[in-house]
Amino acid sequence: MAKKTVFACEACGYETLKWMGRCPKCGAWDTIREFRIEKDMPQSHEAPVLVSDEDLPEERIVLAIEEMDRVLGGGITCGSSILLGGDPGIGKTTLCFAIVSRMVELGYDTLYVSGEESLRQLSSRKKRLNLAGSFPILTTNHLEDILRAVAEKNYKLVIVDSIQSTYNSRLPMLPGSVSQIKDVSSRLIMEMKKSETAHIFIGHVTKEGAIAGPKILEHLVDTVLYFEGDKMLPYRMLRAIKNRFGPVDEVGIFQMRREGLISVENPSEFFVSERGDIASGSSLFPYVTGSRPIVLEVQAITPKSAFSMPKRLSLGYDLNRLFILIAVMEKMLGKPLFDRDVYVNVTGGMKVSEPAIDLAVAASILSSYRDINMGKHTAFFGEIGLTGEIRKIVNMEARLKECERLGITRVFCPRGVEKIGSPETIPLKTIRDLYEHVDEGSDHLRTR
Ligand SMILES: Nc1ncnc2c1ncn2[C@@H]1O[C@H](COP(=O)(O)OP(=O)(O)OP(=O)(O)O)[C@@H](O)[C@H]1O
Ligand SMILES: [Mg+2]
Repeated sequence: MAKKTVFACEACGYETLKWMGRCPKCGAWDTIREFRIEKDMPQSHEAPVLVSDEDLPEERIVLAIEEMDRVLGGGITCGSSILLGGDPGIGKTTLCFAIVSRMVELGYDTLYVSGEESLRQLSSRKKRLNLAGSFPILTTNHLEDILRAVAEKNYKLVIVDSIQSTYNSRLPMLPGSVSQIKDVSSRLIMEMKKSETAHIFIGHVTKEGAIAGPKILEHLVDTVLYFEGDKMLPYRMLRAIKNRFGPVDEVGIFQMRREGLISVENPSEFFVSERGDIASGSSLFPYVTGSRPIVLEVQAITPKSAFSMPKRLSLGYDLNRLFILIAVMEKMLGKPLFDRDVYVNVTGGMKVSEPAIDLAVAASILSSYRDINMGKHTAFFGEIGLTGEIRKIVNMEARLKECERLGITRVFCPRGVEKIGSPETIPLKTIRDLYEHVDEGSDHLRTR
């Protein structure tokens, strides 16, 4: 078989025909390695198969870990590849231990492969997490060991912790390098897809927050999940970035306790529970993510700026949208914000990309600017257009229902929501209408 030599960067995958000391693409030093690739196509004898709906039905395992099932689109699909990424120490191993334990409880053969922790460490973790039953753990970094274990027994689920620590000893590259990750993941996926073994690869993330290794890894798998959260706070979010078996906008919320992760079924209470009697600069927003509405708090402060160019900073809300919103507010309300810094924060670390949050952000900015209280039981939703109009958004009924459940008594929203009763809806045509509800003489928001 004819062979060809190419050079490729281990860090970014850049290919070149000659060796270089520094990769021209990513700038890394001493990462260009020589590879020999087979030129001829390998022989394969696969033939097309006629498929009807009844022949190959989709099979899922419902874990009854509600938030995990929700994010996966109704449980683990048999034979699927899942990549789970997250910051160091965020709780990836803890989550996967809970999954394995549940799988074993349900009577499915499951294997946990760890290349990062010793058997003793894993055993004391299992004890701390108070997990029922016993399950097989393989501590290895070698791809061959995993392939052998998978060939010997038909597991329903295999978890590899982590894909960066697993390597093929026949390749000269270091574990964690692009070529190793590519090789290890593609071999594991190929073998486990054949035997319809579902598999979860735990992946490290880079300091930029992306899963370390080649982008190709994310293309190879069926589902990419990110486990996120502030390590100082007790809750974590599981989010699907890609899912071939379900929606990608579902968010699973967990509470991190010493004894493990607990699904949070009513996250609204969780996100607004810390809210005390805030005087100004805060408003509530019913956010719809996936199939579930969650009420979030949007905060803003607008102090006098000490700079010639005032600062605008936003956490959880798109900064470009904030620039536009400030421009619209200045034009429509005639309120100069040019000498004010504007800081916006969606509490709880949620990142909201829905334009429906615009009205709540505007309300918080206005509330801070005028130092008025928007009310503890008041919520806001609606997209704000460039001419200041409040535009209709999707899922308005679901949002109102969640507001009602939380005891919110009035909601400022776009026109066209026909709802009498609780919560009272106050339809707004433009952002000026919102401003007119601000009572000049009082420190509260008027209803009429
Ligand atoms: N003995 C302990 N008591 C209480 N909490 C603990 C204990 N050990 C770990 N934790 C909690 O579990 C978290 C670590 O979880 P875990 O090891 O599952 O994270 P990980 O994402 O797998 O980390 P890594 O990237 O290092 O593999 C810690 O941040 C801590 O909050
Ligand atoms: Mg871990």
